[in-house]
Amino acid sequence: MEARRLSRDRASHWEAAYTDKQAEEQSWYQQEPTSSLKAISRIGGQPHNSLIDVGAGSSALLLNLFKQGWYDLTALDISSAGLARAQTNAGEFAAKIDWIRADITQWKPARHLDIWHDRAAFHFLTEADDRARYKAALMAGLRPGGYLIVATFAPDAPEKCSGLPVCRYDAAGIDEALGDAFDLIAEWRDVHHTPWGTSPAFNWCVFEKDSS
Ligand SMILES: C[S@@+](CC[C@H](N)C(=O)[O-])C[C@H]1O[C@@H](n2cnc3c(N)ncnc32)[C@H](O)[C@@H]1O
Repeated sequence: MEARRLSRDRASHWEAAYTDKQAEEQSWYQQEPTSSLKAISRIGGQPHNSLIDVGAGSSALLLNLFKQGWYDLTALDISSAGLARAQTNAGEFAAKIDWIRADITQWKPARHLDIWHDRAAFHFLTEADDRARYKAALMAGLRPGGYLIVATFAPDAPEKCSGLPVCRYDAAGIDEALGDAFDLIAEWRDVHHTPWGTSPAFNWCVFEKDSS
């Protein structure tokens, strides 16, 4: 019951975040998903690969990939307002993307995907039980040999993002939280510039899931 209450609280927070502010007013907004595309290029991602963006919100990533010829794309987010904004941005292409409104800690994947991408969703899971549920979804949803791309606030970034407490990670921290079945391929920092001039550091990690 506690998990469901937390999930409802999370959903209300994110509905309000997308209803009350324009994209350009949101702290995480970026016009170009540069680091995400760098990570996908780093693993040699190809248009025939399936990719899920967890906590996609209204990010431009999937539309960007669709325009490059990718055709098996899934956006998952707890906020229907966030997904609705992304669908509006995608216009006529919206029907070509799978949209899932779900809390990732409650989601049961129906199939294996090649690439799991998460920019700034996992770091909001401050409870160990929620991180374990996220990991269960990740293990069920990512194929053996698939890739995990995860960006979180770095250890020296602020303790809150979008008004919520976050856990801050480097690769060792992600490995400890999600790790045993993954090998680290790459890690880097990128400084994100918010609309009001602050510059929180993100830590980007790319992992390959064991093939067995
Ligand atoms: C900081 S925003 C980042 C959005 C997007 N990834 C980007 O880079 O622009 C975090 C996103 O994660 C979503 N989110 C937060 N907790 C979630 C959860 N438990 N399950 C699914 N989505 C979640 C929010 O609704 C929001 O869209």
